[in-house]
Amino acid sequence: MGARRAETLVFKVDPERPDPEAVKAAARILRGGGLVAFPTETVYGLGAVASNPRAVMRIFEVKRRPPDNPLILHVSSVEQLFEVAREVPPHALKLVDRFWPGPLTLVLPKSERVIREVTGGLGKVAVRMPAHPVALALIREVGEPIAAPSANLSGRPSPTTAQHVLEDLGGLIEAVLDAGETLHGLESTIVDLTSDPPVLLRPGALPVEAVEEVLGRRVLVPDFARGLGEADRALAPGTRYRHYAPSAQLVVVEALDYSDLGPLASTVRRLVEEARGRRVCILCTEETEGLYEGLPATLLKLGSRREIFTVARNLFKALREVDSLGCELVIAEGFEERGLGLAVMNRLRKASGFQIVRAS
Ligand code: TXA
Ligand code: MG
Repeated sequence: MGARRAETLVFKVDPERPDPEAVKAAARILRGGGLVAFPTETVYGLGAVASNPRAVMRIFEVKRRPPDNPLILHVSSVEQLFEVAREVPPHALKLVDRFWPGPLTLVLPKSERVIREVTGGLGKVAVRMPAHPVALALIREVGEPIAAPSANLSGRPSPTTAQHVLEDLGGLIEAVLDAGETLHGLESTIVDLTSDPPVLLRPGALPVEAVEEVLGRRVLVPDFARGLGEADRALAPGTRYRHYAPSAQLVVVEALDYSDLGPLASTVRRLVEEARGRRVCILCTEETEGLYEGLPATLLKLGSRREIFTVARNLFKALREVDSLGCELVIAEGFEERGLGLAVMNRLRKASGFQIVRAS
């Protein structure tokens, strides 16, 4: 573990029309048991051929990921879904029809073909068909599902560029396909369809409201999906670990009502004043940046509250940037838990290690 390889190959590819030779070269590395990071529409993934136990084990080693935290299988066809899932109920197919390829991961009973290393011994498997042309071309070229977690060191913010991947895993993996910045900048939404009602295991780039609309029923949103507390390992193994975190301490300031940003901003100001002597960063928004003028803090603007898509897209990038700026304390504004705001709050709360301050 930890030994850096000579070099990680970087294949620069056009995100819409990837060079078939680069895709073939990457697929060859995968089929030979190597690890290749690749872009998806959400974040970069770290891929291994899903049927190769040694290659899959290496994912855990290089990421320093606990081996009981299972991986998502990435497929390029619905036939592959039927191969890895023992059962695909009609409501799963409804979601597949509507949202695949796209940022929705379905948890279903696994078939015997899925190896233990992928699911961490669980009887369920997580599957998604990514919408990125490079990811789809790569899976097709490999000819079977690719197991891939996000291509970051365990605990770090997920990578939205190939540079982020190299920061964490450069020299540890064989190659990365570099297609520039990812679209959503936030991981897929994970829904467990093995329970009734379905359970949201992780909010992500597809709002859970859209899933509920297609299902015609409610999806259970447990506290851990909101980033509050931990779940049972059997249900949501990934929620037990601190995640997405910069090295700096991070505090989230949450309001009861985001229609009045006054209390939020004054609480942020108070925290900055109390942190005298430390290097402080504020993750703010277009609506609030003017309220922090003159404070001894670096402002990182995520976007406008009216465009939560942009806020979500910039979040992981900002969580990496605070470290390169040498911040010691990051104060992050909260967001309303609606639409993509639910995923943004899940990531912020986890990144903070649950250090939440109520605006007053
Ligand atoms: O957008 C995404 O989902 C990205 C891209 C690369 O596809 N992938 C990603 O993978 O975020 P990862 O490993 O960082 O997060 C996957 C989450 C983990 O929290 C894991 O615990 C959960 O999915 N998971 C995987 N298999 C599961 C299973 N069988 N049952 C329950 N949860 C599962
Ligand atoms: Mg991850």
